[in-house]
Amino acid sequence: TAIFLINGPNLNLLGQREPQIYGADTLADIEAMLQAHATARGVTLTCRQSNHEGDLVSWVQEAGLVGAGVLLNAGAYTHSSIALRDAISGSGAKVVEIHLSNVYAREAFRHKSMIAPVCAGVICGFGKTGYILGFDALTAAAGASQT
Ligand code: DQA
Repeated sequence: TAIFLINGPNLNLLGQREPQIYGADTLADIEAMLQAHATARGVTLTCRQSNHEGDLVSWVQEAGLVGAGVLLNAGAYTHSSIALRDAISGSGAKVVEIHLSNVYAREAFRHKSMIAPVCAGVICGFGKTGYILGFDALTAAAGASQT
C-alpha cells in the first residue's frame, strides 16, 4: 500500500500560523507523526507540500497513475479549485479530504468544498489527529474494496 500526504497553501507555516486555530505543531512534526504511524503498519508514505495549485493537481494525477491513496489538506484551494476537483475525479485516485480546523464552525466561505463531492470522505476539526484518522480510513477502505 502507498499513500501520498499532500498539504496545500500556507500549511508550510504551521506552528507559527494562527496557532489558536491550527495548533502549535509544525508541518514537519505532523509529517513525522504520520510517518511513524505508516511505518508501523507497513505502508509507504510520501509527504509533499506546495503553495501552488498546479503542483497539487500534478501530484493527485501521479497518485492515480501509481495507485496510491491520498490524504489531502488542500487549504484554501479546497474552497475554490475546480482544477483540483477535476484532477481527483479524472485520475481515479482515492482521496480523503482533511482539515485541521472545523471549517463549519468558521466563516461561511469555508463551508463550501469544491472537492468533497469527489472525495471518499472528509475529516475536519480534530487537529493533527485528523491525519491519523484519515490514514486509518484510507487504509481500511483500501482493504474493504479488495474483498
Ligand atoms: C484548512 C482550512 C481552510 O479553510 C484554510 O484555508 C486552510 C487550512 C485547515 O486545515 O483547517 O488553509 O484546510
